[in-house]
Amino acid sequence: MRIDIITLLPELLVSPFSASIVKRAQENSSVSIHLHDLRQYGLNKYGQVDDYPYGGGAGMVMMIEPIDRCLQDLKAERNYDAVIYMTPDGERLNQKLANKCSLMENIIILCGHYKGVDQRVRDHLVTHEISIGDFVLSGGELAAAVFCDSIIRLIPGVLGDESSALTDSFQDNLLAPPIYTRPADYKGWKIPEILSSGNTPAIDAWRIQKAQERTQHLRPDLLND
Ligand code: ADE
Repeated sequence: MRIDIITLLPELLVSPFSASIVKRAQENSSVSIHLHDLRQYGLNKYGQVDDYPYGGGAGMVMMIEPIDRCLQDLKAERNYDAVIYMTPDGERLNQKLANKCSLMENIIILCGHYKGVDQRVRDHLVTHEISIGDFVLSGGELAAAVFCDSIIRLIPGVLGDESSALTDSFQDNLLAPPIYTRPADYKGWKIPEILSSGNTPAIDAWRIQKAQERTQHLRPDLLND
């Protein structure tokens, strides 16, 4: 998978992609991530990328021309499956959407700032709009980092243990069951006996039951989905 990210603040995206699973995924060529500084496509000698809103009002609006020029450069090189705009009023990210996007080959992610982008960017240039939740961040970069992490770990070969993404919370509309490690008794707080029984079918059944109980208790909405 190739991910191109268009942003006014590329430095915000360096650290999230420089450690752990996402770093390894780049090292073993499962994914390549390319940051594009929108300012380089800015207009006039100031590299202008934003302007006042027509009709008045507070805040600045990201202009269409620098974004369009950057997109044209990228699209001249290869075909893209999606041009995704990170925005709080987009489709809410969940595991199902992450699974779908993880199957894409080449994607472009556009990070918004200020009051957002000129509506014509959304109407004519963007193919998907994604929100990571019902709250407003200062810009799309952190949302893009969250989105990228959620899809990169689903690319086959990225996780060491192939089955590990399958047992994640939400993968079957179920939260993950409780897990424990040594010691078996800490200050009198004991692990459930079944887990040290060696009886794998019984342990599997216990895990399914706990996952269902936990989901029923914490997120009953998932069971009706
Ligand atoms: N940009 C600002 N807030 C956002 C959010 N919640 N999701 C996606 N992009 C955003």
